[in-house]
Amino acid sequence: MKKTVEEHAARFSEMADAYDDSKSDEYHACASLVIEYADPSAADTVLDLGAGTGAIALALAPDAERVLARDISEGMMDEGRRKAEEAGLSNVEFAYGEFRDPEIDPDQRVDVVTSNFALHHLADDEKREAIRVMAATGARRVVLGDVAFFEEPDPAAPFYGPEVDDPATVGTLVEAFTDEGFAVTTVERVHDQVAVIVAERGQALSEPGAETGGPE
Ligand SMILES: C[S@@+](CC[C@H](N)C(=O)[O-])C[C@H]1O[C@@H](n2cnc3c(N)ncnc32)[C@H](O)[C@@H]1O
Repeated sequence: MKKTVEEHAARFSEMADAYDDSKSDEYHACASLVIEYADPSAADTVLDLGAGTGAIALALAPDAERVLARDISEGMMDEGRRKAEEAGLSNVEFAYGEFRDPEIDPDQRVDVVTSNFALHHLADDEKREAIRVMAATGARRVVLGDVAFFEEPDPAAPFYGPEVDDPATVGTLVEAFTDEGFAVTTVERVHDQVAVIVAERGQALSEPGAETGGPE
């Protein structure tokens, strides 16, 4: 993490008013794919990490039972709360939570985890820890849209601010999900430096029939 959690929170709270109007075409394309792949059912609880002003959380709320939106910036979440109220969405809960400690009730069921354009603020070892936390929720699907490198990063490229951003390679992220027992089912290349990764739980070996699934 190139800045502390407090520094990131203050920086985002400062820009919260203008945030929604400042986004690139690639950001919008990435967010649309995250929403599309998340695809919750009406009984699902979605956990959106680094939720900001609610681009993903608010879009998914009409299709899900509940959306837990977690972020470190109260300014960003206040915008999200305002928009949720305006849209009449009462099933979205914005509350403080970090990637590595989303502060959700241990008994809370989570079916789908989403995150868009946020994980790249963490260093790679912290991203791994965050992905471990996502896995520990028991979610069947994680959809991560983020700044991530398919190729050698170009330091002059627009998606990467070396002072505040610390993007991983796509390979590092895929490996982290695989290490946590997910199957990575989709990798979308939105831009050389913007990826959407869909990670899903395979059938556990202990589940009936899993060991005998092949030809006999
Ligand atoms: C670029 S915004 C993305 C917001 C939203 N997901 C979207 O798609 O518009 C990044 C967000 O990540 C949050 N963030 C940064 N570091 C975080 C951390 N360690 N834990 C949780 N959220 C974090 C920031 O406060 C900010 O709201």
